[in-house]
Order: sequence, then structure tokens, then C-alpha cells
Amino acid sequence: MPGARSRKEEAMRALVAEIASCTRCPLHASRKNPVPGEGDLDAELMLVGEAPGRWEDEKGRPFVGAAGKLLNELLALAGFKREEVYIANVLKCRPPGNRDPKPEEVEACTPFLDRQIRIVEPRVIACLGRHSTRYLFSKAGLVFRRMGEARGRIYRARLLGMEVLLIPTFHPASALYNPSYRALLEADFELIGRVVKGATGAEQAPPRRRRRTLEDFMV
Ligand code: URA
Repeated sequence: MPGARSRKEEAMRALVAEIASCTRCPLHASRKNPVPGEGDLDAELMLVGEAPGRWEDEKGRPFVGAAGKLLNELLALAGFKREEVYIANVLKCRPPGNRDPKPEEVEACTPFLDRQIRIVEPRVIACLGRHSTRYLFSKAGLVFRRMGEARGRIYRARLLGMEVLLIPTFHPASALYNPSYRALLEADFELIGRVVKGATGAEQAPPRRRRRTLEDFMV
């Protein structure tokens, strides 16, 4: 009888093979390599980005370019090694010139992401940027308006039949173009770390002036 872990490995292997031979949208024709995702199949934390860029397309791995270097630093700040989390994208193939994903590409590709989420069963999903947040909010029946409004909060959601906590934040690449986003990304990743590790901060609350707890960030 295969254990839960080997069932997950088998399901992910089959999924990766399907992604490799996928022709559901035109992006398969221009990509060098598909970028299915990688990480711990039992991860409590899953990160969902937008789409592969140039370096990801070269290597077939998510977040290995400049945004990936920053993501590794943010993960370390949150108390994680990269291999302890699972990293995926909304799209598995690079859009030419790193343009935004088209709605029909998102529609064609996201059944793969849905299956990844079902396999990994993360407790917390960090939505990196607006494309990821918009898609995951729509799946969870939540309204998405702007990143500035959604980020840095914890959304208790029912997603694909599972209870998850969604925590949207800016895409790491945004801090490469606009350094003022870096402090916000750092604050959001610290929050992500506290949520995944289950620290509420409540136990350190001083008796009179209440310290803010994770509940204060919840929607
Ligand atoms: N940006 C993304 O959204 N995903 C990657 O894998 C790399 C850059």
C-alpha cells in the first residue's frame, strides 16, 4: 500500500509530465522549458507567483532570477529555507517578453495549479502579486480590488474544498523596480512566518496596552 507521501510524489510526477507535453495555449510554442514548480510536497506554506521569466524559462525552475534571489532573502527573513516550502506559478510557460498573462492563458493553465494545491494541501498560501492574488481570490469567492488594499492581511478561505489562509503580498520583482516596496514585502513575509509557525504574539501582550495579534490582520 503506497503511503501518503508516495501518492503525492506519484501525482506530482504525472502532473509534471502533463505540463511538459501541454499544448493548451500558444505559450508552449515559444517557451524553452516549462516551469511546473518545486519544493516540499508536504509544505505548510505554498507560494504562488505569476509566470516564468527569462531565467526560469532557461532553467525550468521557478524564481531563479533576480526576483528569486530576493524571494530567497524574504523566505529566510520569515524563517524558511527555500526547500521547506512549495513554489509554483499561475502560468507554467513564459509569456514572451515577460508580458502580463492573458485571461485565456490563465484559464488554460490554472487547472495545473489547482491540482498542485490539492496535492500539497498547504495550510497557508502566499499570493505573490496581482495575477496570483486575483486568481486565488476568485477561486475562493473573495473580491480583489488592488494589491495595496489586499496585501499584508490574512484571509481565511475555502479553496478547492480545503480550508486555507491566503496572504497576498507584492510580487518580489516589484521591489526591484520600486525599492519602497521592499519594507512592505519584508513586513508581509514576517507575518507569513508568524502565521505558518503559529505564533500569535498574544502571549507577550502587555496587560493594558494591547499588542496587535494576528487576529488584527484577519479579514
Ligand atoms: N516571476 C514569477 O512570477 N515567477 C517566477 O518563477 C519568476 C519570476
